[in-house]
Amino acid sequence: MLAVSINSANPAEVGTSLLIVALPENPTIAGIAGLDSATQGSLTRSIEMKDFRGTRDEMLHLTGVAKGPRRLLLIGMGTVTDRRAAFKRAATLAARNANRLGVGEMVWYSGQITPEETESITVGLIAGAWEYVDLKSPPPEAERRKPLEKAVILTSNTDDSRKGLASGQAIGSGQSLARRLAMMPGNLCTPEYLAQTAADIAKRYNMGITVLGRREMETEKMGSFLAVAQGTPQDPKLIALEYKGGKANTKPVVLIGKGLCFDSGGISIKPAQGMEFMKFDMCGGAGVLGTFEALGQMEPAINVVGIIGATTNMPSGTAMNPGDVVKAHNGKSIEIINTDAEGRLVLADCLSYAKRFDPDVVIDAATLTGACVIALGHSASGVFSTDDVLIAEILAAGKRAGEPGWPLPMWDEYKELIKSDVADVKNTGGRPAGAVTAAMFLKEFADGYPWAHLDIAGTAYSETDLVTIPKGPTGVPTGTFIEFIRGRVR
Ligand code: BES
Ligand code: MN
Ligand code: ZN
Repeated sequence: MLAVSINSANPAEVGTSLLIVALPENPTIAGIAGLDSATQGSLTRSIEMKDFRGTRDEMLHLTGVAKGPRRLLLIGMGTVTDRRAAFKRAATLAARNANRLGVGEMVWYSGQITPEETESITVGLIAGAWEYVDLKSPPPEAERRKPLEKAVILTSNTDDSRKGLASGQAIGSGQSLARRLAMMPGNLCTPEYLAQTAADIAKRYNMGITVLGRREMETEKMGSFLAVAQGTPQDPKLIALEYKGGKANTKPVVLIGKGLCFDSGGISIKPAQGMEFMKFDMCGGAGVLGTFEALGQMEPAINVVGIIGATTNMPSGTAMNPGDVVKAHNGKSIEIINTDAEGRLVLADCLSYAKRFDPDVVIDAATLTGACVIALGHSASGVFSTDDVLIAEILAAGKRAGEPGWPLPMWDEYKELIKSDVADVKNTGGRPAGAVTAAMFLKEFADGYPWAHLDIAGTAYSETDLVTIPKGPTGVPTGTFIEFIRGRVR
């Protein structure tokens, strides 16, 4: 991961192969006068000639100073309303470009910044430098470029700035981990691998961990989770991490993540086109692990439990069939109409299992329905709860993290759609309101605590390049989880 540090050097004199200067729309020379004179007025000229206007994501590459920054890259932020968001976006873009340029290290300058803004810039720089090249052979010598390994933010070197840097690094580590796990193919990122990653986090940060395999889940009578796992020879894993930063008697925030390392659809098999994207069906679980990596580094004064339901959904002679009825951990019977609605079957037992931690609140995140992608596209996660105050709290956390959510209803009448002729409930309600009926199904198992559900099917990964983020995982819901927890500490 990119190593970020802070330094209070003068931007006109700092020795670097690339100095990034982030500027708002219609920039003025105030704050960059020193740099301007060091470059013989090239900044003033670029602004005067309108070579650089400071529109959002605009970039202008200039040659720099022999003694000092050797290259300059001006980055536009547009009209800035939310400074932290604007800095984060520009920093992501800056690091992505620095990585492409192959300069190896860079320096960031954006005038006077607060410690909170230092945090946002750090998160952005780490996100922009992130890439997944583990499985690629290195290119021929002549084409090789230095990956971006170091970045320096120019700001006052105070205790508060260093705190902003540290929390930015923690969030950046969490998001980078979530993205790496998501990007890893299903044959490498197995339920076993997720459990191993959780065990590694638990060991490094001295957290509690419990991992249930098929045998233990049988003892627990988790018939719903096991129904999904019965088609695969791989051992399913229910992973529970416990971070105890709060007082011993305070109820924990419980985070649950869907961890389908591959979802073929099972007997209700998916079409071949695009099936490879279903390696991303563990992004909820990756978000939980990313959050725990960040918690280990930030050490907030709160208790948090993370539960990941990890398995694969495969067709086979032992797989569950449409029409089967299974009994969930909480005793409710479920008619399986469509084996491709497997995430909710896994989450049902995780939600029921969560009860033993006596949760203050439970939030689950899952790449749960294609219907949510139809409803909200790739711009917002679906947020579901019967508790409006909790919805507002999650929306606010998502906003702070730059991971927008949007509420969808959970009215009682939707429950009609998942009534079964033979069992207590069925696992699909047909095409109408598909994201809502999935949430209504989960509600049957989220009993005894305040609960909310995030459908991240449209937001956890992108099939196109998003300017700041390349094709692939976005890190959602890691930021939302972390901000929600921080919101509860303050
Ligand atoms: N993992 C998928 C949901 C999904 C689909 C995520 C597309 C991202 C993109 C989930 O397990 C699933 O298959 N859901 C079905 C439910 C249906 C059978 C009721 C769906 O959305 O089609
Ligand atoms: Mn599915
Ligand atoms: Zn799925």
